[in-house]
Amino acid sequence: MSDPRQHIMPVYRPPEEVFVKGEGPYLFTEDGARYLDFIAGIAVNALGHAHPAMVAALQEQAGKLWHTSNMFRVRAGEELADKICRDTFADRVFFTNSGTEAIECALKTARKYHWANGNQERIDIITFTGAFHGRSLGAINAGGNPKYLEGFGPPLPGFVHLEWGDMDAFEEAVSRPTAAAILIEPVQGEGGVRALPDEQLKRMRELCDEHGVLMILDEVQCGMGRTGKLFAYQWVDGVEPDILCSAKGIGGGFPFGACLTTEACGEHMQPGSHGSTYGGNPLAMAVGNVVWDIISDEKFLAEVRRVSGSLAQSLKGIADSHPDKVEEVTGRGLLTGLKMKADPKSLQGLCRDRNLLTGVAGANVLRLAPPLNITDAHVREATGIIDEAITAWEPA
Ligand SMILES: Cc1ncc(COP(=O)(O)O)c(C=O)c1O
Repeated sequence: MSDPRQHIMPVYRPPEEVFVKGEGPYLFTEDGARYLDFIAGIAVNALGHAHPAMVAALQEQAGKLWHTSNMFRVRAGEELADKICRDTFADRVFFTNSGTEAIECALKTARKYHWANGNQERIDIITFTGAFHGRSLGAINAGGNPKYLEGFGPPLPGFVHLEWGDMDAFEEAVSRPTAAAILIEPVQGEGGVRALPDEQLKRMRELCDEHGVLMILDEVQCGMGRTGKLFAYQWVDGVEPDILCSAKGIGGGFPFGACLTTEACGEHMQPGSHGSTYGGNPLAMAVGNVVWDIISDEKFLAEVRRVSGSLAQSLKGIADSHPDKVEEVTGRGLLTGLKMKADPKSLQGLCRDRNLLTGVAGANVLRLAPPLNITDAHVREATGIIDEAITAWEPA
């Protein structure tokens, strides 16, 4: 018998389970086994699986119109952009199909801003170790992770990589005449579910302002309610980015992203400077409006903060009772995890054996990114399984 995966490019190594149905925070396999999904498609299914309002919006739109391209206006996209600008710092929005494309748009917008203002030498994008911004050539060069760059030609010019948390190095880099923008995740996802201290973001903003450098926030993973605010920057008083990348949760499972900008940045992206055939298509926009209406509601966000508090407390209890295996609880809100003292890959397997889906991230982190509308009962179920799995775990 041939392997049914033989023609799939071997860039992924998924386990054997095949999921065919989802309902809220649960996934079901072909033979009906139920799993509690505490990774939600890597922080994507923000409202769980098969949310009735999302399903209805998609079904209704699917019967009307799928695609016209951006040669023509898309009313639902205009509406969604209005809502985004009402609720955030942004004045302009470019819709994409993924997080990587939102990053590409951000990088181009930042460089174009300086070029249009007569500062052609300002091309450097400053990023930090542990960053992950996607898989295009621009995004892997921004991320700077040697593992992801290997084999793909010479590194591109215009990217400066600094040690995470090294504010002295940042102070020096941001003052160079070639500096264009800083690109940073307020909570690193892939890099180990690591939250940037609020004071650091504030200081970075001050230094950017001082030197005429733009701030780009990558909120692809940590945005859209995941930390308990609509976007993570909203935790920090007085800090707003110039450009912000969103994706994942913004579509709740329908693939799309967005690059949000101020007017000062967005105004230079004139016809011909950027584009996308599918970006902002009617199906994505129909779903996107529903997701935005639900997640941007302050009552919804308050509940995310409450439930993430109970999750954090339970995880802290687990960390305290396994000091030999757990180093600390990490992350913010519902982008959280346990930093283990050894590679947690086999622990992730033990959780899956007990019907709980989790992720892993850099620096030995067992990553949790459940749907945002989980209840205390789901928290109890998940943390009960994690506790049991850690007890059974024998780190390599
Ligand atoms: C912080 C961050 N930025 C960008 C991306 C890239 O998004 P996508 O995979 O949708 O292209 C990811 C994906 O994991 C991410 O976590």
